[in-house]
Amino acid sequence: MSKSDYDPDEKQKSHNPSRRKFLKGVGIAGAGAAVVDKLWIEAEAKEEQDGAGRSLSGNVNVALDVNGAKRNVQVEPRTTLLNALRNHVEPAVTGPKLVCDVGTCGACTVLLDGKPVYSCLVLTVDAIGKKITTVEGLGTPENPNAVQAAFVEKDALMCVFCTRGFVTTISAYLKKNPNPSLAQVQEACKGNFCRCGTYPRVFEAALAAAKSGKV
Ligand code: FES
Ligand code: FES
Repeated sequence: MSKSDYDPDEKQKSHNPSRRKFLKGVGIAGAGAAVVDKLWIEAEAKEEQDGAGRSLSGNVNVALDVNGAKRNVQVEPRTTLLNALRNHVEPAVTGPKLVCDVGTCGACTVLLDGKPVYSCLVLTVDAIGKKITTVEGLGTPENPNAVQAAFVEKDALMCVFCTRGFVTTISAYLKKNPNPSLAQVQEACKGNFCRCGTYPRVFEAALAAAKSGKV
C-alpha cells in the first residue's frame, strides 16, 4: 500500500479519541445520554483544572534516536511511533510495516532499548530517550546480520509483509538466548503473524542463525 493510498492522519482523525465519543460508543448509551454527558463534563472540567487538556492538541517537537542517528520530528502527541517513522521522519523509515494497526500481527515490530515492541501501539513521545532499532538498523544488504542472512539462505519469506517483524523479534531473542530449541523460537515468535504461512522456514532460519554463532 503506498503512502498516497493511506493517510494515517486521516485515519487517526476518524478514530476521534475524544472522551465524549468514547463514552457514547462503549455501550452505555442505554443508560441515557444525560449520564454520558455528566461523565464527560466532569472529565473535561478536571482536565481544565489540571491543564492536561491543553496538551492534547498541536504538534510537539520530538528528538528520536533511530538506528543510532538523531531524528527530529514534529508530531501530534497522539502520533504512534510507527506513524512517525513511516510518515514524519525524513527520510522515511519504512522497514516496520503497517498491517493491522491494533497490536495483533507484529509487522510493525521495532526494538526499544533492545526490547521488541509493536510500534503501532507506542506513542512517539514515549520513545523519547530510548534507542529505537528497526530492521534497517540490524544490518544492510551488503552486511546483513546473522538472522537476515539466514532468512535469505532459507528462503523464509513470501510477500515479506511480516518478515521485518520476524527478523527484528528473532534478532533480539537470539541475543538473550543464543542457543534456543525449536519450541523456544516458536514461543519467542508468538507475537508475529504470517498470513503466507512461512513459519517452518522462519523457524529454520532462526535456528540456522543461532547455529552460525554470529548473533
Ligand atoms: S501493525 Fe502493529 S501489530 Fe500489526
Ligand atoms: S511472508 Fe507474507 S505474511 Fe509472512
